[in-house]
Amino acid sequence: MFISFEGLDGSGKTTQATLLADKLRSQNHVVEFFREPGGTEISERIREILLDKKHLGMSQITELFLFSAARAQLVSQVIKPALLDSTIVICDRFVDSTTAYQGYGRGLRLGAVKTINTVATYGLLPEVTFLIDVPIDEIIERRHKSGVAIDRMESGGREFYEKVRQGYLELAKEEPKRVMLLDGSRPIDVVQDDIWKEVSARLPRRKG
Ligand code: TYD
Repeated sequence: MFISFEGLDGSGKTTQATLLADKLRSQNHVVEFFREPGGTEISERIREILLDKKHLGMSQITELFLFSAARAQLVSQVIKPALLDSTIVICDRFVDSTTAYQGYGRGLRLGAVKTINTVATYGLLPEVTFLIDVPIDEIIERRHKSGVAIDRMESGGREFYEKVRQGYLELAKEEPKRVMLLDGSRPIDVVQDDIWKEVSARLPRRKG
């Protein structure tokens, strides 16, 4: 089973993805967890280039191809073999991040972005995607409280994030069967309950 988590930086998706992985492992499922961009040596090196604040001059098309290159390596080197092995793969971000950030956020042509996405993933899509939605005001408040330093992608500003959020909501409307929209302003355990209901219903029944 292949599961992805999506949402804005600070939406709580990493927390939710980690909780799900822990719960599945506690029930003896084999789980591989990846964060994007990253997950292989090549993809981690591409990640450094992408997030480096020195690279403010990076062209938007370069950015699109680098995220896609990192993903292509992750899919071919680890995700595909893991799925063949019936491992549960959890990705903290996947192809919808590119549609939302580079397509809707940066304003690159959506048709082109989606074609590049299909090439980069070898056509592979998650079985279920949890989109953790949090209003921008709350995201900004959370970020102030956490006090963590921002990276190049996070220096986009409010208007950029509004566009990314709307893009994500559009994706949930376009693909309601795959993309499950969750209100991320609720307490962590309440959001996790929704996720667990959905995932546990999809787990293979075990003998004995
Ligand atoms: P990361 O620190 O992993 O984000 P977070 O932990 O907050 O999810 O950094 C990834 C950044 O890259 C994040 O700002 C979103 C952005 N991104 C894209 O713009 N396009 C993509 O395809 C992906 C995977 C990430």
